[in-house]
Amino acid sequence: MKILMVCLGNICRSPLAEGIMKAKAKTNGLEWEVDSAGTGSWHVGNLPDSRSISKGLEYGIDIRDQRARQLKSSDLENYDLLLAMDTSNYNNILKLATSEEQKQKVRMIMNFVQPGWNQSVPDPYYDNDGFEQVYQMLDKACEKIILEYK
Ligand code: 4NP
Repeated sequence: MKILMVCLGNICRSPLAEGIMKAKAKTNGLEWEVDSAGTGSWHVGNLPDSRSISKGLEYGIDIRDQRARQLKSSDLENYDLLLAMDTSNYNNILKLATSEEQKQKVRMIMNFVQPGWNQSVPDPYYDNDGFEQVYQMLDKACEKIILEYK
């Protein structure tokens, strides 16, 4: 499996999603390729937000090797699944899709927990308290993804 986690800035939610997914794949002995990207370009080259780094470390997940990058159209060719954190990310990824096959690869990540609800992982950028909720939501979703594809 090649999975790309996608949010807006690639500094808060998708870096945590990448770290959690990689940790679970490793625990399950799966050689999955996991990366993350942002639909926006403001933070390209930056480390994850310090609050995401801290939240990861609290649960034994070190995301300090990550650097933000922007989503590109070749990602839709190269990955099996592109997982959007919210509906805005979802719509922006779809804009880059050039075929029905590529469109099928794009999913809302929380639909792995509650299929069809199209629930968003809330953007925690302006909310210091939001990072624990983001972590818990992503942990649940990644667990389901392991069960579905391992
Ligand atoms: P993320 O959070 O999409 O989870 O990385 C954000 C990070 C930065 C901004 C917005 C959301 N920003 O507006 O700079």
